[in-house]
Amino acid sequence: MMNRLLMTGAAGGLGTQMRTRLKHLAPTIRLSDIVEVTDPQAHEEVVTCDLGDKDAVEELVKGCDGIVHFGGVATEHPWDPICNANISGLVYLYEAARKHGHPRIMFASSNHAVGFHPQNKVIDNTVYPQPDGLYGVSKVFGEALANAYHSKFGIETAIVRIGSCFPKPTDHRMLSTWLSYDDLAGLIGRIFDVPRLGCPIIYGVSNNTASFWDNRQVKWMGWQPKDNAEDYRAEVDAAKSKPAKDAPEVLWIGGAYTADKIHE
Ligand code: NAI
Repeated sequence: MMNRLLMTGAAGGLGTQMRTRLKHLAPTIRLSDIVEVTDPQAHEEVVTCDLGDKDAVEELVKGCDGIVHFGGVATEHPWDPICNANISGLVYLYEAARKHGHPRIMFASSNHAVGFHPQNKVIDNTVYPQPDGLYGVSKVFGEALANAYHSKFGIETAIVRIGSCFPKPTDHRMLSTWLSYDDLAGLIGRIFDVPRLGCPIIYGVSNNTASFWDNRQVKWMGWQPKDNAEDYRAEVDAAKSKPAKDAPEVLWIGGAYTADKIHE
């Protein structure tokens, strides 16, 4: 059992969902974001800071024995904010972890780290990254940083390439990439439960019949996602027309991101 778990990006979509679901992991949950996290409960402490502020991040990490790192720029953006939060911010987080007790880390990577792999071939966690934009590149950087800090200093990180974590799948690509909130919470539970973690890459995806990803390499973790996007196929078919056969949404894992411009 951890004493204090830090969750960055706690005001965001996943942070808000995981706050209640991960309550059992530690008696104190430290919630952080660049915007204020509202309505703290008795077991929660709130620290508002920019991940790009090195000294603040060092203070943030001190005294935590686990980190769920959701914070950062979560979609395609101009380089400066991506660089601040996802590049500099990540280095500051790992430096603080190195100096303050080597907490175990869950790093929220993304399917956009492998966005330019084709959808028609199932891939596992040994493929070379093929990011689909600056956001995806920043996630590949994060994966490399986690790996280096594991090899060099023994800091353990679960690199989770999250698919699409939303209440339910709402388009055809999400029938493959959907991750339910409960399955994500189950995965994070396993990440902090396994006696030895190392630095595995895990695809954050529910038990979808149409998944693009093969998680057999991390079966040893004992994570068994329960939800299946297939249950929503009829609903998606009724709501959305099928994309054309040559649309980015059906060619590439990263979908529309592969056709996105560079944001200046
Ligand atoms: P979100 O955008 O709702 O939450 C991210 C949070 O990070 C926001 O509350 C934002 O204020 C905070 N943040 C941004 N810049 C910051 C900075 N400089 N300093 C401190 N905090 C900052 O995103 P969401 O959906 O909750 O995603 C969480 C994580 O999971 C992100 O790292 C994202 O890249 C990753 N992810 C999420 C997916 C999803 O389906 N929701 C898919 C793939 C990856």
